[in-house]
Amino acid sequence: MVRSSFPHTRLRRNRFDDATRRLVSETHLHVDNLIWPIFICEGEQQRQKVKAMPGVERVSLDLLVEHVRPAVELGIPAVALFPVTPLEKRSETGEEALNPDNLMCRAARVLKTAYPHLALVGDVALDPYTSHGHDGLIKDGHILNDESVDVLRHQALNQAKAGIDIIAPSDMMDGRVKAIRSILDEHDFHTTRIMAYAAKYASAFYGPFRDALGSNALLNGDKKSYQMDPANSDEALREVAMDLAEGADMVMVKPGMPYLDIIRRVRDTFSVPTFAYQVSGEYSMIMAAIENGWLEREKTILESLIAFRRAGCHGILTYLAVEAARLLRGR
Ligand code: PBG
Repeated sequence: MVRSSFPHTRLRRNRFDDATRRLVSETHLHVDNLIWPIFICEGEQQRQKVKAMPGVERVSLDLLVEHVRPAVELGIPAVALFPVTPLEKRSETGEEALNPDNLMCRAARVLKTAYPHLALVGDVALDPYTSHGHDGLIKDGHILNDESVDVLRHQALNQAKAGIDIIAPSDMMDGRVKAIRSILDEHDFHTTRIMAYAAKYASAFYGPFRDALGSNALLNGDKKSYQMDPANSDEALREVAMDLAEGADMVMVKPGMPYLDIIRRVRDTFSVPTFAYQVSGEYSMIMAAIENGWLEREKTILESLIAFRRAGCHGILTYLAVEAARLLRGR
């Protein structure tokens, strides 16, 4: 540490003008840091507004290529796909997750054909497909671990076959990364990457997302027996360590802004590609304040994202990706 004494040292000198501020800036936000989550739905010519997420829509497959075009043109490297499964296709065991022609797989094929260089992130968990809204199989009110993992690994393989590049297990079952890595390798998907939702908390901030997927009304109980307790931090490091040992290529912390301390610990401890999800509730909070005129749009969006970079993230999953990329291009 440099010893500083006033008035010889004045930290404000480095903030004197824009050029100097740019020179001493410690972190940067770049389009390469952005992953855009998108909601896809059945039907034709569908652009359904998500009520709790102003500016976010569920889009049908015939509109998907156009919907994603701005992201590709702006240079966003990846999108994350979230299917809204029709209620009649949801079931106790979520077998629609294994259907090679499910919404997610069809979307992956459409996007891979249109944009071969766009990386596709596929969420692996059963909640879009189960009639009870949980991420795994349920018996006598308990979420089964190993039985769920057995379905999840086949879900991952199904997605890889459809062209998903980055498998992102968000279910928080123990041992799922190892099972997924094994089945992918057995089927020669050696280059398919795994981005593990490693430290995923049982959070109230997922509310608007579950609304978007239509799983809020279905969910009985909570997800506390598999997602983490917001009070815990050491446990997050154990989760990350296990996922890395099992073969995760990248790890994620979720939600984002309320968990910046976890991101910093993960990055400092493991020095591996680290991601965060600025989740639906964070997006909705920011947008609500912006729409009310309480926060200034551009500055708030960019500040909310640079915070992740400062905390140690390589990249951020954010519903603001396209808007942020536009703002960055204008700089
Ligand atoms: C499903 C999943 C969730 C999110 C991503 N994948 C919700 C949940 O666990 O209930 C949340 C994303 C968001 O809130 O934006 N396993």
